[in-house]
Amino acid sequence: MKSDPPPKELLPRRNSHRLSAGQPCIDAHFVNRLERNSDNMQSFVAQPNPGTSQSTWDSKAVAEFAEGSADILVLRRNAPGDFAEEVQTARIHEYLAPITREKAGFEIRAGLGELRLKSAALEEDLTKLVNAFLDQFELEKARLRIEITQTQSCPKFHSDHVNIRLVTTYLGPTTEYQFSGESSAYVAPTGGLVFLKGKNHPTHGDSVHHRSPEVPIGQKRLCVAIDY
Ligand SMILES: [Fe+2]
Repeated sequence: MKSDPPPKELLPRRNSHRLSAGQPCIDAHFVNRLERNSDNMQSFVAQPNPGTSQSTWDSKAVAEFAEGSADILVLRRNAPGDFAEEVQTARIHEYLAPITREKAGFEIRAGLGELRLKSAALEEDLTKLVNAFLDQFELEKARLRIEITQTQSCPKFHSDHVNIRLVTTYLGPTTEYQFSGESSAYVAPTGGLVFLKGKNHPTHGDSVHHRSPEVPIGQKRLCVAIDY
């Protein structure tokens, strides 16, 4: 039986970040309940796992996402810090590395070192995310990208040639995404965990596309991606 589509009006406009004409920007920060987008579950936005502090995310929600037809899952969470001071003196750079459980600590420290970004809180958070990602998808190895940028690296909406990518933005404008057939673009919450299916995933439906945001002149964006 076909279920009713969810309301689409729930999110206030975000004025601080300008999108191109015809693409009003809606801020997912203000979603405070599970939102299922249409009867084919293109996406939903959920609260973080209310369980123990050791829970990095709601692994059941992520497992359902991976098995289901949704192409995006956005999990809100409190970022472990704003890192504005640390990023101020850090280097504009992209660190890319294959990552395993055994070498996670080494690679993350090496990446933060290359970026000249010293932060124990960030190192701890990245370690948690990497380990949770490997556990969630039962992987021996994944790819890690830690990036500080001052430009819009991917201005066009697209999907990637990956299975699943987790993207989180710690500082600056966040990932934007758009559903097929819609003109509105959504903005991921700062520090939130954005799981995106890519073209290599068996249940990828090509129903949502994402892009990197514009970065205002003089600002920096700190963003991390883990994928396989
Ligand atoms: Fe992408």
